[in-house]
Amino acid sequence: MAEFLLPPNSRINKNGKQHAAPAGAKKPRTFRIYRFDPDSGENPRIDSYEIDMAACGPMVLDALLKIKNEVDSTLAFRRSCREGICGSCAMNIDGVNTLACTKACSDVKSADVKIYPLPHMPVVKDLIPDLTQFYAQYAAVKPWLTTRTPAPPDSERLQSKEDQEKIDRPSACILCACCSTSCPSYWWNSDRYLGPAALLAAYRWIIDSRDDATGERLDALDDAFRLYRCHTIMNCAEACPKDLNPAKAIGEIKSMLAEREH
Ligand code: SF4
Ligand code: SF4
Ligand code: FES
Repeated sequence: MAEFLLPPNSRINKNGKQHAAPAGAKKPRTFRIYRFDPDSGENPRIDSYEIDMAACGPMVLDALLKIKNEVDSTLAFRRSCREGICGSCAMNIDGVNTLACTKACSDVKSADVKIYPLPHMPVVKDLIPDLTQFYAQYAAVKPWLTTRTPAPPDSERLQSKEDQEKIDRPSACILCACCSTSCPSYWWNSDRYLGPAALLAAYRWIIDSRDDATGERLDALDDAFRLYRCHTIMNCAEACPKDLNPAKAIGEIKSMLAEREH
């Protein structure tokens, strides 16, 4: 996976609080974690936590939970499913956006495990980014079925196996935001560019054989910023922990718009 540069932030105090490993630790490893409480008026800092990996689960989320439960209950992060389904534990680990629950500590090659919130997002606290705009962009593509015809009286709206397979992969998006927050175009224009996650969702409904709003959906995306800020840099596809390819979906939306004009 590619490494993504974190935004320069000269205000970060790199030498925050140090928490030493417990006495007798068999396999100590240091986690350097971004801490920030906007309400405190203090600058962000990096705290160090030395953990005994011999007494810790294998994933980065296991280490975070151990730190929160046993060392420092003030550390804030999101998590729920702990199996790569809910998308809430997305963060930047060792320079890569990924899910803490599916990232093994042993896969972090640097000696210390460096953990930051997803880049270029406002921070609510510590590793929790403010996803308000991200969710608003998702809502803006109307991620629901739009129909103009009455539903069949005695069955669901069915589609062929082939048509279902077209939406199978894009429907697997867990809205973790790893892709959008790794996209340079999104970093610089997130107020106007929808970003790869929302555009993948738009694509999922555009190609749904049961949906009757394809033309309106394409009209809504035909905009220099909302869609065409994608410059096919491909960071999004590299970042996706579900192996989805938003860049390809965006390319297909652009092709559909181009074909419409001929
Ligand atoms: S391909 Fe497009 S959406 Fe994906 S990272 Fe590049 S610019 Fe962003
Ligand atoms: S496309 Fe992948 S990286 Fe982007 S929000 Fe969905 S699951 Fe996360
Ligand atoms: S806790 Fe749900 S994806 Fe990591």
